[in-house]
Amino acid sequence: RPGEPDPAALLDWYDRHRRRLPWRAEPGRRADPYHVFLSEIMLQQTTVKAVGPYFGAFLARWPSVSHLAAAPLEEVLSAWAGLGYYARARNLHACAKAVVARHGGRFPKDEEALLALPGIGPYTAAAIAAIAFDRPASPVDGNIERVISRLHAIAEPLPGAKGTIKARAAALTPAQRPGDFAQAMMDLGATICTPKSPACSLCPWMEPCVARAQGDAASYPVKAPK
Ligand code: ADE
Repeated sequence: RPGEPDPAALLDWYDRHRRRLPWRAEPGRRADPYHVFLSEIMLQQTTVKAVGPYFGAFLARWPSVSHLAAAPLEEVLSAWAGLGYYARARNLHACAKAVVARHGGRFPKDEEALLALPGIGPYTAAAIAAIAFDRPASPVDGNIERVISRLHAIAEPLPGAKGTIKARAAALTPAQRPGDFAQAMMDLGATICTPKSPACSLCPWMEPCVARAQGDAASYPVKAPK
């Protein structure tokens, strides 16, 4: 019978296999909240590969949230061209203005204050709190949903299972290094616990994974019929 997943085993894997991404800090350092904010908004409907050059171009042009807030909206929209879903660019700009107006140009550390900003939903608030401030928050994106639903073989279909999955993710999040833990789950989902043919033999959580023990990791997450 599989045991409980150990957060330390995942963190240890992350220390050896973390992806080097433009918005990530060097090991042992916290990322700039503006970098986390910008990357998380860009990554919402766009791949890591496509986001890279846009992330670099935005930072070169608007090196801080105050610079972005002071830019004319039209310039932000034209720099966004090619990423799609322009509502994200409008929200990005509105959020930058609110960070300046409400918080003097510094992102707040608490999840609640982050959530109160325009354009920041529960996922983004948790991602910034965890990754930039190392708060014990648990962002759950599609990758993390897949990891958690396999780990616990959650039979309830999505989207109904989202609440259960979030509660499981929160229960797993360690007090030590919660930001690295969130990014480790993202990397595990992107590189090992992939949608098709997951590489279970390379997974630091192979032993505690209930779906793996059943031999059917790829059949999770269960989705409701359309
Ligand atoms: N996808 C969404 N956010 C991400 C992040 N911070 N690192 C890697 N992939 C991601």
